[in-house]
Amino acid sequence: MDVQQPPPARPRRIIQLGIDYGTSTSKLVFRDASSRLEQKSFLVRPYGRDGDFRVPALVVWENDRLYFGDEAWLRAQVPRARVYPSLKIRAAFPSDAYFQADTHPPEGISVADLAMLSVLHLIQLGGRAIEEYAASLDFDPRLTMTMGVPVASLASGDPLNSYWLMIARARWLYQKGTPQLANGVPISTAREMAVSSASAVGQSRPNEVAQWLLPEAAASLMWAFQSPRVPPGLYASVDVGAGSTDACFFRIVEEFDRHFQIWRKAKFSFWGAAARPPGADALDRLIAKAHGLPNQLEVRGFEDVFLAKRMPKDVRPLLESIYEVLSDAFKAAYPKDAKLSNWQDCRLFLVGGGCRISAIKRHFTGNVLRKNALKPFEVVDPGIPSDLEGIDDLDDLGLALVAYGLSYGLDFATFELPEAVDPVDYSDRRRRRLEEDELPPHVLRDQ
Ligand SMILES: Nc1ncnc2c1ncn2[C@@H]1O[C@H](COP(=O)(O)OP(=O)(O)OP(=O)(O)O)[C@@H](O)[C@H]1O
Ligand SMILES: [Mg+2]
Repeated sequence: MDVQQPPPARPRRIIQLGIDYGTSTSKLVFRDASSRLEQKSFLVRPYGRDGDFRVPALVVWENDRLYFGDEAWLRAQVPRARVYPSLKIRAAFPSDAYFQADTHPPEGISVADLAMLSVLHLIQLGGRAIEEYAASLDFDPRLTMTMGVPVASLASGDPLNSYWLMIARARWLYQKGTPQLANGVPISTAREMAVSSASAVGQSRPNEVAQWLLPEAAASLMWAFQSPRVPPGLYASVDVGAGSTDACFFRIVEEFDRHFQIWRKAKFSFWGAAARPPGADALDRLIAKAHGLPNQLEVRGFEDVFLAKRMPKDVRPLLESIYEVLSDAFKAAYPKDAKLSNWQDCRLFLVGGGCRISAIKRHFTGNVLRKNALKPFEVVDPGIPSDLEGIDDLDDLGLALVAYGLSYGLDFATFELPEAVDPVDYSDRRRRRLEEDELPPHVLRDQ
């Protein structure tokens, strides 16, 4: 008798997706940490091997459908299309004057729903890349995910709640198996998705928040730690994104490895952080207004060109308030080692697209912390971590830092920025990988 054997079960591996949901563009990196010998992170290029890794973060409403990512970017020019930029910040800081809505969402859908659907679209893009990777190695992926948040700590607060709801609802929809958003979704379907995910997730915030969310400022440190170019020492990192500025101070500590008889980077310590709007978007708004342009999208990426023609008078105070974020991070960090001479060798990481704007860069490199009597920081060449695949354009480095750190997910899970005076250490010791029946609740079991 010919009995058909079921195909042998494929081995399972946990893959961690780092979601850097941005105000202007989002970035995705996933990490396969299942093999102890070769743990690797992969930059996702959703638009083909040679395509961009940046996913436009806007949503467009056109002809009774909502569009996301590249498709939204293409359709933003269509006459009568409604464009929703900067949703990430608008959803989390609804009362912030910089981000007042010019365009109202379709009836029955809120700004928070649009942001949540954008995150779902990112999970789908990341999920597809992970499926392809898993198929090439013949294993069954189990997906965990962590999203970056532009807040200094993981203490409770309104913005944090908004971000938690975004990822929890999006993940719930993904797990349920919803339609792909890459080619757009009818408004009526989007409305149903908004309602069903809101009622499934509710308004409460569960305990495992730290496994799903990580401050963006903290996430960017992992790059510094893993990059062979970056030596041990004291660092400041400032990420001027489109919507917010995130800054922190940290030290990479080296220890003597007795086994190999060498000094090597062993752990890093967080000293203090600050994160809040404004970012480059606010600058773009001022420039757009001064030049009589309809919105900030006309200015994004071309700030230097506009500012060379004319520097609107309200730009200077705005640059000051971006700079104040680093100054606040310093104020949080300094009490932990209140000896000014110990801070003089601090070096600076410039992260995020906003740091490419000359006026902003000059502000940080020329004047940094002058009020605190520190000399200007030397800017660090970040190099490339040896366990990251897919970066080939050196120009893009600063933009993938946060997503790379987020791809470490569970290995970062216990991290919190300290309120107490002692700096918190992050050790390079890898956590034990969990067995299938020990998986935390945010691991997707049934895709
Ligand atoms: N050459 C450039 N490449 C990318 N961004 C640039 C460049 N020059 C200026 N920018 C500005 O940097 C911003 C994008 O930075 P980035 O991608 O770090 O932001 P984001 O991650 O979308 O925002 P956030 O982190 O605040 O949510 C753009 O809005 C643009 O104004
Ligand atoms: Mg960013």
